[in-house]
Amino acid sequence: MSVYQATASAPVNIAVIKYWGKRDTKLILPTNSSLSVTLDQDHLRSTTTSRADPSFTKDTLWLNGKEDEIKPGGRLETCIREMKKLRKEIIEDKDASAPKLSEYKVHIASYNNFPTAAGLASSASGFAALVSSLAQLYSLVPPVVSPSTLSLIARQGSGSACRSLYGGFVAWEQGQLADGSDSLAIEVAPQSHWPDIHALICVVSDTKKGTSSTSGMQRTVETSTLLQHRIKNVVPARMAAISTAIKNKDFDTFARITMADSNSFHAVCLDTEPPIFYMNDVSRAIINVIVELNRLSVEKGEGYKAAYTYDAGPNAVIYAREKDIKEIIQLVLAYFPQTAGEFKDVLGVFGGSVQDVNVH
Ligand code: DP6
Repeated sequence: MSVYQATASAPVNIAVIKYWGKRDTKLILPTNSSLSVTLDQDHLRSTTTSRADPSFTKDTLWLNGKEDEIKPGGRLETCIREMKKLRKEIIEDKDASAPKLSEYKVHIASYNNFPTAAGLASSASGFAALVSSLAQLYSLVPPVVSPSTLSLIARQGSGSACRSLYGGFVAWEQGQLADGSDSLAIEVAPQSHWPDIHALICVVSDTKKGTSSTSGMQRTVETSTLLQHRIKNVVPARMAAISTAIKNKDFDTFARITMADSNSFHAVCLDTEPPIFYMNDVSRAIINVIVELNRLSVEKGEGYKAAYTYDAGPNAVIYAREKDIKEIIQLVLAYFPQTAGEFKDVLGVFGGSVQDVNVH
């Protein structure tokens, strides 16, 4: 008897141009394109094993060892259904001898090796790993199926998940079509193009965030006038400029746009009714340290050293070049002795040091 089982893992990605707002909440179609860096780090991954078997009576998923409900019409069900559909269309309908795995129920076990509550985009790596593992189980791998095609399905699990199907620098093109078939991830540059870039993750708090991304962004779409300005006048030019900066390995431009877009995203959160605050006092203090570090460095004619960015939570991600990483870690640790309690916890989450993460 054959065993049909596959395991895949996917890393977290951190956006430098933020996705915030949906034009279609069911298909998860965004109101603007976004761009992220996929982190290549063993600490921040989801690993998922899928198995198909004729004896299984229902699709079942365990998340970190606990059974998670697969709600009818929900995101998990959509991803599993779409993957089975792709298997049928691309493999089984074309080859009568291929096993009819699309007709079997699946058992899926997924693990995050970082705290789900830490606000570190667990849904992005989680849905990307789920789709990747089903893709392997169903033989939907390159050159038969591209990561961009799989990203169409991961997107329907969680928008940001579509970008974790590629390593390196990845764009999620918002697309124009109502069915979402052009709203997908594309590779801007592989990690090997610019391996000098590192990400430092400073976990300021590992408590679960107050307002989820999903509900927060919907509230922003419904109430913020600033969001319309961001969508029309701000993001398109930034997408083009940061893609060029990545291609040219132009860190100054990359850093300037990354920080500006983080600020713009948190500004539209503040412009939401009622307002959403994701950053706390420590987050803002870290911004001041980075701004000062860059100011001194630019004054000396040495350009930018670091770029901060914040997602839907208080934790800082700092992008910097290899040569500056040590100094930045020392600086962050030196500047926050008074918040040692808070900061130490944070550092404790990942074993006592600020994470120095090489991009994927
Ligand atoms: C601030 O992808 O978690 O991290 O599509 O509703 O699942 P859903 O939202 P999600 O939102 C991520 C928002 C962000 C910015 C980003 O990653 O681009």
